[in-house]
Amino acid sequence: MNYPTVEWRGSVATGVVRLIDQTLLPGRLKFVRCTDVKQVWEALRMLRVRGAPAIGVGAAYGLVLAVRGSRATTAERFLADVERQAAYLASARPTAVNLFWALDRMRRVAREEQGLAVPALKARLLAEAETMAAEDRATSIKMAEHGLSLMRGVSTVLTHCNTGGLATAQHGTALSIVYRAQEIGKPLKVYATETRPLLQGARLTAWELTQAGIDVTLICDSAAATVMRQERVDCVILGADRIAANGDTANKIGTYALAVLAREHGIPFYVVAPLSSFDPEIASGDEIPIEERSGEEITCPYGLRIAPAGVRTYNPAFDVTPAKFITAIVTEYGVLHPPYNRSIQRSFKDRAAT
Ligand code: MRU
Repeated sequence: MNYPTVEWRGSVATGVVRLIDQTLLPGRLKFVRCTDVKQVWEALRMLRVRGAPAIGVGAAYGLVLAVRGSRATTAERFLADVERQAAYLASARPTAVNLFWALDRMRRVAREEQGLAVPALKARLLAEAETMAAEDRATSIKMAEHGLSLMRGVSTVLTHCNTGGLATAQHGTALSIVYRAQEIGKPLKVYATETRPLLQGARLTAWELTQAGIDVTLICDSAAATVMRQERVDCVILGADRIAANGDTANKIGTYALAVLAREHGIPFYVVAPLSSFDPEIASGDEIPIEERSGEEITCPYGLRIAPAGVRTYNPAFDVTPAKFITAIVTEYGVLHPPYNRSIQRSFKDRAAT
């Protein structure tokens, strides 16, 4: 993807957060300029910016917007503003842990650098957000390299939701492997699920992959079992919104069903996610908060009424795939294998040592 999903444009004092409004894709590629934190909160909430790593980067830039106008003259007052605005941004969505990870990192920097004058502290926060965006780009490239080691003998993958450049600062999580495979002349074919109710697979994944010249076949979510049974796919690759210490993985609703199907059909099931999507503080997926969204997303998607108004709905946006269904997890630190408690712990130690 040649367009930055979310970025800062300009100086700390007058700059804006510029983002692609993903709700308009594929019909329209529109860049939105946010000048205040409420607009960023709304963009996160309404999925104009979505995908766990992109949510993290967007929130970090949002926090800069939120506090750059702070009139605080002492570090203590400025830190109070940072805390208040971080709590506000954190309320945008509950499941993707990257949101909380990014805001915690910004809060920590503000605390550690409180010896600076307030204007310098504001500039330091923007620098940190820029570093996080750059790290996310680099992380995607590393995950692609590690993920390629699992693609020997693989010609076709199945993916769910959108894990490409639109879901990150650039390149993607699972789709970064597909992009890298194409770059090295070993292109992979992709089956992309529609991903009801908000159709991230149809609207975003199919759009990104088509633009990149990758062979993509769009299927209804309900066709996945048949596609697997017909031996059309060699493995499943997808992302994560939060991974617990034991490897249980929250990702877009429908992921769990795909994992069970993959097991039944003897197909490897790979999760691709940076360490910023892990939550080592929670023991298992039972503790992951699952976002429940409006039933209107099911009954009236994108303004088209397809079910009677008033019908009862249940719309969890994510589900948890138990670790036992996951063949391996690809991170920027390498490929993790079961038992995940041990391999995840080791990755965090490796990161602390670098
Ligand atoms: O509701 P969304 O569109 O933010 O959900 C996104 C996903 O579930 C992705 O698969 C996930 O964030 C991992 S890929 C970066």
